Amino acid sequence: MERLTISLNDQLAEQFDVVMHKRGYFNRSEAVRDLIRDLLDTVRVEEHAEGRCIATLSYIYSHHESELASSLTAVHHDHHDLTLSTMHVHMDHDNCLEVAILSGSIKNVKKFANHIIATRGVRHGKLHLLPVETPQEHYSPDSSLHVHSAAIA
Ligand code: NI
Repeated sequence: MERLTISLNDQLAEQFDVVMHKRGYFNRSEAVRDLIRDLLDTVRVEEHAEGRCIATLSYIYSHHESELASSLTAVHHDHHDLTLSTMHVHMDHDNCLEVAILSGSIKNVKKFANHIIATRGVRHGKLHLLPVETPQEHYSPDSSLHVHSAAIA
């Protein structure tokens, strides 16, 4: 494990400590590790649109809006290769919350999520996308090890 020493001016360090404690971190190392992971994920998503990801897509809609529920279901069926599972919660008398777990190339998952989020009547759509390493990225000619699992750092 490498140790990093970071120099921060007093004001920045103080602000970081306040926010870190608000977010429930007990030490700076874990907070900084999560910031770095976040940055690496962002860069991977920007640079590797063909790379694979796992993602959650959540959104709210009113089931009173005619055709909306069935058109959303149709969109999911059209992209059944991307949708692993969908959970539907009847939030209150009018609103439904759906959370879909998606898996596929970053490009396709984003395109699909944007399509759902932009659908008229769909509100508060949010995609949380995590790039995953494909087994090929671990391939080593010397190794007979067959890697099945995707890894997240
Ligand atoms: Ni419902």
